[in-house]
Amino acid sequence: MKDDATRTAQIAEGGFGRHYTDHMVTREWSEKDGWQEPELVPYGPITLDPATAVFHYAQEIFEGMKAYRQPDGGVSLFRPEQNAQRFAKSAARLALPEMSVEEFIETLETLIKQDSKWVPNNVGESLYMRPFMFATEVGLGVRPSNKALYMLIATPASGYFSTNTAVSVWISTEYVRAALGGTGEAKCGGNYAASLVAQKAAAKQGCDQVVWIDAVERKWIEEMGGMNLYFVKGKGADATLVTPKLTGTLLPGITRDSILTVAKDLGYKSEETMISIDDWHHGVESGEITEIFACGTAAVITPVGSAKSAMGTWVTGDGEPGPITGQIRAHLLGIQHGTIADKHGWMHRVL
Ligand code: PLP
Ligand code: COI
Repeated sequence: MKDDATRTAQIAEGGFGRHYTDHMVTREWSEKDGWQEPELVPYGPITLDPATAVFHYAQEIFEGMKAYRQPDGGVSLFRPEQNAQRFAKSAARLALPEMSVEEFIETLETLIKQDSKWVPNNVGESLYMRPFMFATEVGLGVRPSNKALYMLIATPASGYFSTNTAVSVWISTEYVRAALGGTGEAKCGGNYAASLVAQKAAAKQGCDQVVWIDAVERKWIEEMGGMNLYFVKGKGADATLVTPKLTGTLLPGITRDSILTVAKDLGYKSEETMISIDDWHHGVESGEITEIFACGTAAVITPVGSAKSAMGTWVTGDGEPGPITGQIRAHLLGIQHGTIADKHGWMHRVL
């Protein structure tokens, strides 16, 4: 176990995924015996046979959610049942065993209670929980694994991006993230593996992130590397928050879903619809689109300052974070950190 000084220093370093807490949860499954009891063990390496299925055929899924320090010193999770349900759906898509919502949440509670000192105290900081599951049958036959291992680790997090200002995005017309019937709706490692070459192309263009378009017409905006997207049309009280519709190829983000509600709570209109590359281009050029932001658990709400593609570069507004982006971010963080009333019963108290 890390001593107090080390833990304090590691939490203060912030960032995303730099240090891990003292413990982890593991839970084994086999076709023969079903789920075993979860075990809380010291964080550390695991040993696997080189012929373990996951190394060869990528039968793996994961989730991401955060535990937030509350004003009274307690700790709460944000909508963990949503992550539990999405994890079960991802499991079904990847032919992995499903775990009940209650049992999934119980593993989170166990680790948070054990490592509660790792939950940071400042607003905008949290303990990022990473549950994951992979195929552990040994053998090279391509078949659904008859054994799996569920694991849960946790890492103190502040910002996902190293920058505090707006990010730039590269609209990828070369690579495709997901097609209908594929795994776009599932949170499986393979989706991210296949995205890395496009992320590299984005970096080569000087951009922070890649934006995916649809696989069929190659013109509809879907989402970003690890985030969903929102476009703000209009200004002030008349603004509408528009996000790409869930067509079956996007990851149904929990932050995305929450913002549809938060926008209404704040008096804005919100809409789920199809948005094309041309809509983006012309909307920004005409000034109809005033702000663009990305949203996700890790990224929270991150303003998108400029978009680059084979068709040119389009700057959102003056390229700086916009007021509605800031307001939505502050409101969501307020609910998560317990300083704004939780009208929708989203917070799940752990401690
Ligand atoms: N889209 C992708 C591809 C993601 O990896 C994530 C991150 O989880 C999201 C969207 C946002 O989802 P959520 O808000 O549930 O974190
Ligand atoms: C999250 O926001 O939880 C994600 O999983 C995004 C990314 C780090 C993969």
